[in-house]
Amino acid sequence: MSRPHPTMFEQALASAVRAPSPHNTQPWRFVLDGETIEVWLDRARVLGVADPLAREARLSCGAAAFNAVVHLRAHGLATTVRTIPDPGKPDLLAVIRLDGNRKITRTDRELAEAVFRRHTNRRPFLDRLVSPPLRIALKSAALQEGGQVEYLDASGHFSTVTTLVRRAEALQENDLAFQAETASWMRHETEAPDGVPTIATGPPPYGARAVSLRASHANQGLPPREFEQDPLLAAVLTRDRGPHAEVRAGMAMQHVLLTATAAGLATSFLSQPFETPQTRDALDRIFDGLGQAHTLLRIGYGQPTATTARRAPADVLTRRVTPDVPAR
Ligand SMILES: Cc1cc2nc3c(=O)[nH]c(=O)nc-3n(C[C@H](O)[C@H](O)[C@H](O)COP(=O)(O)O)c2cc1C
Repeated sequence: MSRPHPTMFEQALASAVRAPSPHNTQPWRFVLDGETIEVWLDRARVLGVADPLAREARLSCGAAAFNAVVHLRAHGLATTVRTIPDPGKPDLLAVIRLDGNRKITRTDRELAEAVFRRHTNRRPFLDRLVSPPLRIALKSAALQEGGQVEYLDASGHFSTVTTLVRRAEALQENDLAFQAETASWMRHETEAPDGVPTIATGPPPYGARAVSLRASHANQGLPPREFEQDPLLAAVLTRDRGPHAEVRAGMAMQHVLLTATAAGLATSFLSQPFETPQTRDALDRIFDGLGQAHTLLRIGYGQPTATTARRAPADVLTRRVTPDVPAR
């Protein structure tokens, strides 16, 4: 096996940190150790009100792990990703290990490039349908990581779930602790290294809409706009439940998001119903037969918007110095 160039892992981390995370909290740390990258949860960056169990933070770390894998694959390096929980180290979420060389495919290159173009688009999408082959491609992306995509229009859950989104949004709008936490992650400076900058927010909605994006992410300084009437909503699920499943779900989510980006689709999230206990239980009951629902994505066609900055990889990286073992 060819050994990776020393900067290859650093470049993989530059991809990893482009992962999405709630309010751009970037709740991750990485440890480089020989030929492995460890992905750790950074508890100090978990949203205490919206995400007290660190569920969304683990999804984000799974997405970061997937981005690193995508970078290595696009450079001809195969990897294995271990996400089996270690009871002694609950915050060590994934270990990425090099596993020989591989032939680079066109998809590898497209996904690696999509890492730097993917962004959350909170603006209205066009009323243009996502074709059946593309819908299948997104499902297949989730399956490759052990996840599953359920389209709400196909499964008949659209109106039940969007009602829960609106209910959760209303609960959160009246929750002072939630509002204070969200406000603390909003940023006016475009290049702020974390948080959601104003340029990444969307216009307030005009008229009745099928879905309710976070009101706190609407820019009241923009004129109201009409949003698409028939958004494509997809739930990302796993059969298993628990912290380990959340990391895998994050990988599946990111594979779906990058596949969508590579195909020219825009994406955003509707996390409100996962964040209030009242709606979360109802959501669990809806998807009970399929497993655990982890996130809800809005997918469609839209004008690209600004990408959001990140902390530098060097700020989230530690190198473990392993004493050299003399060769025998
Ligand atoms: C688990 C998870 C939940 C999210 N929930 C929402 C949401 O409900 N509304 C929203 O506008 N963005 C949501 N986001 C998107 C983040 O705010 C976004 O990823 C972050 O600000 C970085 O911006 P970027 O995705 O454009 O790179 C979520 C992201 C993740 C990973």
